[in-house]
Amino acid sequence: MFKIAIFASGRGSNFAAIVNQIKSGQIKAQISLLISDKEDAPVLNRPEAEGIESLFIDPASFNNQTAYENYLIKLLQKAEIDLIVLAGYMRILSPVFVSQFKNKIINIHPALLPAFKGLHAQQQAVDYGVKYSGCTVHFVDQGMDTGPIILQAVVEVKADDSAADLAARILVEEHRIYPAAVKFLTENRIKITGRKVKIIKEEENLG
Ligand code: GAR
Repeated sequence: MFKIAIFASGRGSNFAAIVNQIKSGQIKAQISLLISDKEDAPVLNRPEAEGIESLFIDPASFNNQTAYENYLIKLLQKAEIDLIVLAGYMRILSPVFVSQFKNKIINIHPALLPAFKGLHAQQQAVDYGVKYSGCTVHFVDQGMDTGPIILQAVVEVKADDSAADLAARILVEEHRIYPAAVKFLTENRIKITGRKVKIIKEEENLG
């Protein structure tokens, strides 16, 4: 069985969207671990987390980031994790951590990368005055929001949108494309060549 670890710091709606597709049989995988760096993260108390090993691992309880990440690496290796899904995990993983799991960590970002990297992407889009924004699922590499792009979805920005209005509309698309990307990965239908990611059609993958 394809084993997934989800890292999340907050609400967990993307976590829930992925869990629901696993439960309905659309994604054939299991979530072996849910890891949060925030004790009070609502994701830990979501009904979808029931039955999933859910851990709050406090980065502040380690001497430094290296020690925190080494602990995570051991946990992930012991659980034989195939894919790490960052779902609103608001912490930057070090190059050492990322290189341990090359092309096995994915993230969703609430903008059309490479525009509006980093925090408050929806506010950045509203402030800039773009007419379209959206969301991006990408592999995590050593940079911030720079890894090869797997899927994107476009969302219109309306003239009087607040950041919250735009975020709500983008979130609908996040819940569509993040589970889709996870599904492609579990089916081994993603080919990476440099920065280019190709999604192999189902029939091409048969042989
Ligand atoms: C989502 O909008 C996700 O794109 C964003 O945090 C939110 C988490 O929502 N991630 C980032 O901004 C990463 N830089 P959720 O906890 O309900 O899935």
